[in-house]
Amino acid sequence: ATAGVALGLALTTASTAWAQCDDGEIVIKFSHVTNTDKHPKGIAASLLADRVNEEMDGTACMEVYPNSTLYNDDKVLEAMLAGDVQMAAPSLSKFEKFTKKFRLFDLPFVFEDINAVNRFQNSDDGQALMESMKRRGLLGLAFWHNGMKQLSANKPLLVPEDAEGLKFRIQQSDVLQAQFEALGANPQKMAFSEVYGALQQGVVDGQENTWSNIYGQKFFEVQDGITETDHGVLDYLVVTSAEWWDDLPEDVRDQLATIVHEVTETRNAESYAVNQRNKNLIIEAGSTVRTLTPEQRAQWVDAMKPVWEQFMDDIGEDLLNAALSYNT
Ligand code: LMR
Repeated sequence: ATAGVALGLALTTASTAWAQCDDGEIVIKFSHVTNTDKHPKGIAASLLADRVNEEMDGTACMEVYPNSTLYNDDKVLEAMLAGDVQMAAPSLSKFEKFTKKFRLFDLPFVFEDINAVNRFQNSDDGQALMESMKRRGLLGLAFWHNGMKQLSANKPLLVPEDAEGLKFRIQQSDVLQAQFEALGANPQKMAFSEVYGALQQGVVDGQENTWSNIYGQKFFEVQDGITETDHGVLDYLVVTSAEWWDDLPEDVRDQLATIVHEVTETRNAESYAVNQRNKNLIIEAGSTVRTLTPEQRAQWVDAMKPVWEQFMDDIGEDLLNAALSYNT
């Protein structure tokens, strides 16, 4: 494969590493929805492609399609099962149709920070989750971090009552729906690529996301500041078709698995720093970042945490307790 830039994508994503696959190479299309150069997932996907294209040249070739240019998250898993795309890294909230166990990750205030998420994901319980959808045709290869979520709206949010009656964009997740309903707000499921326009036009009033997504999609431009809540986690599963994976020649599969593993270690260690850089860029752009007093934060915990109970049967109390045990 030779590195180059695909013309169509070059217009929107200047630095997209692109490989022109040679005849006979196994083509691995990797579809995702964020930018490529300032984002934990975008950077990781580009590094993965660079390594595959260099180290597996002649055997395999990876093409990365960022910024929802190939599929939105609501289409990508079906496309994967149909064999139209081989890898993706949707957020853990996007697997509702395939497993209810991942609801654990959407529960508010379970993990104290991304390090606790990391410890849990690397535990036996966490690793077992990657195989939990095999029967449905999907196999997890790695967890990739983004980071903790923050809250924003078209007015300042300091206590839960500030969110009452507002419309919030959420990912495709019943847990996130329940979380905003617990605040007396109106959650609306919506694709990532549509959020900026919806905020700008007032279709929704607010949203929750990580610093890198808030900066990358410019949500801060159309919001009255961001409140640093760290109320939940947004992480990814690098996912593939179990059938496609099993059909790979063993040496190819092993080499690919090793590269995925190494890229995961390298980039996950940087995800916090990448988000802090995005937070600083938001502040430099003139937006307001509001922090909560311990008393204010406690009010958000009190308002949101009751949703745990609603999803206990789906997740299992043992798994929730296991996750909680990785907090310090
Ligand atoms: C979202 O839909 O807000 C995120 O899952 C997007 C992403 O991939 O970070």
